[in-house]
Amino acid sequence: MSTQRIFDVASVRQDFPILHQSVHGKPLVYFDNAATAQKPMAVLAAMQAYYESINSNVHRGAHTLSDTATAAFENVRQQVARFLGAREAAEIIWVRGTTEAINLVAQSYGRSQLKPGDEILVSQLEHHSNIVPWQMVAAQTGASVIPIPVNAQGEIDQTAYAGLLSPRTRILAVNHVSNALGTINPVKAMIAQAKAVGAITVIDGAQATPHVTVDVQDLDCDFYAFSGHKVYGPTGIGALYGRRAILEAIPPWQGGGEMIERVSFEGTTFNHIPHKFEAGTPAIAEVIGLGAALDYLQAFNTTDLHRHEQALLRRAVELSEGIEGFQAIGTAANKVSVCSFVVEGTHPSDLGTLLDHQGFAVRTGHHCTQPLMARFGVPGTVRASFSFYNTLEEVDRFFVALDKCIRMCR
Ligand code: ALA
Repeated sequence: MSTQRIFDVASVRQDFPILHQSVHGKPLVYFDNAATAQKPMAVLAAMQAYYESINSNVHRGAHTLSDTATAAFENVRQQVARFLGAREAAEIIWVRGTTEAINLVAQSYGRSQLKPGDEILVSQLEHHSNIVPWQMVAAQTGASVIPIPVNAQGEIDQTAYAGLLSPRTRILAVNHVSNALGTINPVKAMIAQAKAVGAITVIDGAQATPHVTVDVQDLDCDFYAFSGHKVYGPTGIGALYGRRAILEAIPPWQGGGEMIERVSFEGTTFNHIPHKFEAGTPAIAEVIGLGAALDYLQAFNTTDLHRHEQALLRRAVELSEGIEGFQAIGTAANKVSVCSFVVEGTHPSDLGTLLDHQGFAVRTGHHCTQPLMARFGVPGTVRASFSFYNTLEEVDRFFVALDKCIRMCR
């Protein structure tokens, strides 16, 4: 067992080479972590080492390199199973990211199970990737997508949710944490209610996994998806947890190599799970990188990382009170370190450009959540999203810079 590392922000920042640069002549302050997190050197080194010493295809070659690559690759599947609290590695399917995971569930489970009159409940808080795949499968099957409203704080309206549940509800698809507002949703209770009417549950964990400890058995969900690049790993890799009994019962999504057992022109039989859902050569180096990212995170007591992120959020809320015309969008009692806002008399994209010129990287716009922006009557927001490698001093400097940018806009 490896020794635990004490969290210290100054030392942690040394692990992320990208943070130490200037943008427009100003020190970079990276506050776009909800879009993608930066990668520690350990991840870069693991991927380089993979290509330098064991690169070969997995599950295919009858040679040493292939065996070594396969063992390393499958080892990370076990690591991800532990990370999510899954019962077994066979319940973990490699995907490109959360978007692909949801499309897989919609097209494999949804397309084979839904029929006219069935309802798919999604919240108004969802990313487009947890709306559009359901609209597509609804059009294919005659099912309907029903939005669950969100209150003025940016929380899912639980009374409305209870009222929408019925025997017609076949699928509940919600995020664990909102990408645009940072709201942490009470998914465990929502899952229990959905199960009581016989629905299956699909949780988008893309924004939760960097900030919240996840246990799929405790949540009792049927599917849970996350993206490697938001948990300090590479892009192009993510994982979908699915309950064994469901994964075994539903058809494959994409066809090709690896997902078959035997192919003939008379008929093809499919591989067992998880490989039945993994057509083609997977993102092997990215899986290795994801393993290194999880190792990196798990070297810490993750509560220390989350506590630091909450301190950053509290400081942001405190300082925002001194900014004239500042309106926070998303003030849920339970939220991760995301500060989404508009400022009276300014446009989010103008503020984003001016902030960039001061060295601050933030995301502006609708954050792929147009129905949510419509709910709040705004075209978009400025979103500063904090990671454990950000500092209180960066948050302080951000609000000084924001004040200056607002004056330039007015
Ligand atoms: N879904 C990512 C975000 O919220 C890209 O920025």
